[in-house]
Amino acid sequence: MPAPPVSVVGLGQLGGSLAAALVAAGRAVSGWDVDPAARDAAAARGVTISQQVSGVVVLAVPLPAMATALDGLAVDPDATVTDLGSVKTPVLEALTPALGRRFVGGHPMCGTERSGHTAVDPALFAGRRWALCLEPDTDLARWLRVAEVALAVGAEVVPATAAEHDAAVAAISHVPHLLAAALATAAAEAGPLALALAAGSFGSGTRVIGSDPAFVTAMVEGNAGPTGAALDRVRAELARPWPELVAAGHAVVTRETGRRSVRMPLERAALLALGRAGGAVTGRLAAFLEGWVPA
Ligand SMILES: NC(=O)c1ccc[n+]([C@@H]2O[C@H](COP(=O)([O-])OP(=O)(O)OC[C@H]3O[C@@H](n4cnc5c(N)ncnc54)[C@H](O)[C@@H]3O)[C@@H](O)[C@H]2O)c1
Repeated sequence: MPAPPVSVVGLGQLGGSLAAALVAAGRAVSGWDVDPAARDAAAARGVTISQQVSGVVVLAVPLPAMATALDGLAVDPDATVTDLGSVKTPVLEALTPALGRRFVGGHPMCGTERSGHTAVDPALFAGRRWALCLEPDTDLARWLRVAEVALAVGAEVVPATAAEHDAAVAAISHVPHLLAAALATAAAEAGPLALALAAGSFGSGTRVIGSDPAFVTAMVEGNAGPTGAALDRVRAELARPWPELVAAGHAVVTRETGRRSVRMPLERAALLALGRAGGAVTGRLAAFLEGWVPA
């Protein structure tokens, strides 16, 4: 079966990068953005600008705009709709009533602190993980169609439920954004001398809070429960004796893990087990999916 066309709604950093990467991979790509400048930039990269969306429709708009992103667009009744939002449960709840099993939520684990169409990078997804939601009633054929879009731009697909995804990204993304904000403001309170001496460790620890505050706020507030729980775990870690905490953290970030290749059928239980083990899908071979788990 030929690869379905892809329509990208929202042609900023993430959506513009995806559309450009798909054009480079030879896929038919159309796109739409409310901002004429973003439309012009995408058109210059080979994207067909259209308000008719079909095939795999990717919502790459800010989280608060997800629920209404398809309003005013002509959506093919058989289109599979996915999104790139940084939080999955609220998007699932907002879109499922209208789209039912035609919706498959997703979240590529990439992006920078820049935003808008000037931040487009067609190589953004290469080698990165892309979470793709598998709920109990997910249509597996549609899930695979979206997975093949992620694979086409060089990403590795990590199957997870929306709830599992939200708990995981609270720990590795949403708490780091809040900690970066706290580090930056505490350093500013320490005074100009401290900021003048700030170097590598301060820069690494605070880089992400250079992102658009509206983006970060929508992300942490949209995932408030899991983010609060993950922050509690960080507070508990900070209460440990410092030598013990330093050694434990060092062990996590310096551990070496290999990869063991695996094959699995297109089955929800097998795919979720792969994701829970820390593995990912890297390709499709006839009836099987190929991937890896940590070894
Ligand atoms: N920036 C990151 O690091 C990152 C990483 C992973 C996922 N995400 C998610 O990807 C999505 C997009 O983020 P981004 O960084 O590309 O944002 P962005 O601000 O760079 O781009 C968003 C684009 O959507 C357009 N837009 C807004 N409302 C629209 C609407 N109703 N219809 C059509 N276009 C509309 C804007 O004009 C803009 O061009 C967000 O949901 C975000 O949570 C972002």
